[in-house]
Amino acid sequence: MKWVVATSNPGKLREFRAIFDQYGLELISKDEAGVMEDPEENGSTFEENALIKARACAEACGLPTVSDDSGLTVDALDGAPGIFSARYAEPGHRRERVLRELEQVPDEKRGGTFYCAIACVIPGECEFTVSGECRGMIAHESIGTGGFGYDSIFFLPEYGKTFGEIPAEVKNRISHRALALAALREKLEEMGYIHADK
Ligand code: IMP
Repeated sequence: MKWVVATSNPGKLREFRAIFDQYGLELISKDEAGVMEDPEENGSTFEENALIKARACAEACGLPTVSDDSGLTVDALDGAPGIFSARYAEPGHRRERVLRELEQVPDEKRGGTFYCAIACVIPGECEFTVSGECRGMIAHESIGTGGFGYDSIFFLPEYGKTFGEIPAEVKNRISHRALALAALREKLEEMGYIHADK
């Protein structure tokens, strides 16, 4: 059976496929499902925005759909950039803006969380969301070239490195998205849509 990931981001599709492949489910992107439009993400939480994307895609193609909405929330910025992570500044300047806004903030107040909500919409049957989060600190400068987005300013004290420095296999085990995907797998198993012995 075909399932759709409501994203055009090849990185996200790859991470979802890594989980779904082992269950014999064929996962296709929204473009492959023939869905070209992107709905306006006007929700006020990650969960609402993930549901907006999944519902719009499932309605357009009639197939079970999953989607994720994620971002970085910084304690000292009252949770910003949060749901506006992808639009916090012009492309290439988002990390810079966060670092600038934290210039005077001491280490003990530089906590932050990467958050990922995944929505699942199965037309005519059900819809739900799951989530995952990863705590860390905002570094004083960008370090490392791995990953994407805010990875190089997100410091993990237990590893002594940023997400931009640690290997992808490690990030894919401990990240907010990895944890949300694990919760999705558990929920789909519980509901009988996928089977652990497959
Ligand atoms: P979305 O595609 O609307 O969910 O936007 C997510 C935004 O949050 C991205 O553009 C990144 O800036 C940021 N983000 C989400 N997850 C990560 C991650 O794992 N590493 C770095 N940045 C992330």
